[in-house]
Amino acid sequence: MIDFSTQYLGLKLSGPIVVSSTPLSESIDSVRRMEDAGAAAIVLTSLFEEQLELESKALDDDLSRGTESFAESLDYLPDLDDYRMTQEVYLEHLRRAKEAVKIPIMASLNGATTGGWIRYARDMEQAGADAIELNTYALATDKSQTSAKLESQLLELVTAVTSAVKVPVAVKLSQSFTSIPHLVARLEDVGARGVVLFNRFYQPDFDIETLEVRPTLHFSTPSELLPRLHWAAILYGHLNIDLAISGGVHSAEDVLKGIMAGAGVTMMCSALHIHGIEHIGRVLADVQYWLEKREYTSLWETRGCLSRRSVPDTSPFDRGNYIKTLSSYSLRQTVAAF
Ligand SMILES: Cc1cc2nc3c(=O)[nH]c(=O)nc-3n(C[C@H](O)[C@H](O)[C@H](O)COP(=O)(O)O)c2cc1C
Repeated sequence: MIDFSTQYLGLKLSGPIVVSSTPLSESIDSVRRMEDAGAAAIVLTSLFEEQLELESKALDDDLSRGTESFAESLDYLPDLDDYRMTQEVYLEHLRRAKEAVKIPIMASLNGATTGGWIRYARDMEQAGADAIELNTYALATDKSQTSAKLESQLLELVTAVTSAVKVPVAVKLSQSFTSIPHLVARLEDVGARGVVLFNRFYQPDFDIETLEVRPTLHFSTPSELLPRLHWAAILYGHLNIDLAISGGVHSAEDVLKGIMAGAGVTMMCSALHIHGIEHIGRVLADVQYWLEKREYTSLWETRGCLSRRSVPDTSPFDRGNYIKTLSSYSLRQTVAAF
């Protein structure tokens, strides 16, 4: 029997597949099914900064009015329905999820500024979260915002959370930073135990008939895995921070590639929306078959074997590969044309 155990955020996990933040885990029945299918941990859906600020404003308004109840005042707020859970409902769900399964349950805080909402990390810890994932989706839309400023805001935010809690904190990063290794090293300095590569953005599409800009949500495809593999392979072995890959993990091959790049775990979301929660079990069986056929005794033996540090020729990770790939393509095309 292959040993599937992995490590992530200092936690010893039973396997390489973690369910990433998704509304699928909003039902306790699904949380149980995830564990039964072989998920090693679950990241709950996010609690959003905007939602927490609205709740806090509602409470302030309520106290100053002194009449209506807190619950009633929430009804007056615009857009609160756009967010899935209020803080109390979230914490209660977290407690129930913890009671329902043995695998680690990670809470997710989603925001971009260092506001008062960060104190909720402590509530998540008290409610039993085994770790906190911080999703820091910030968009620079103002030309006066410098990248240095954005990075320092992110570091401030992470510092505030890591100093508020004892449980490990992971940062779900955007791919759009100029020097990812430098930023990840700084995140490690301010106490982050892991980074999730990467946050997936949902750019709006344009409807050219109605001249409207529309939000879109497409599930991922395995092609989205490549930039994640690339950066995990570059980061692996140079820092003491754990790596998770989220984005494009659909099959056993994707899981194996993620671990071989150097990730401690791979995360699944779209694949579960498409194929169902039991897909985890099928993927794990395929991983096991692949490893057994090649006479591995543990998955961990493969970790980082295709990282930049481990391969004899590092050029595929560097600029040289970019030039080689483009020029070999044009050569093939030219030959085919004759
Ligand atoms: C319907 C849906 C809801 C999601 N909600 C969250 C969320 O609340 N917080 C978060 O950090 N990521 C959220 N994500 C992103 C996923 O956790 C994951 O990082 C992303 O989908 C890439 O992984 P995948 O290729 O396995 O789907 C959501 C994704 C989907 C499809």
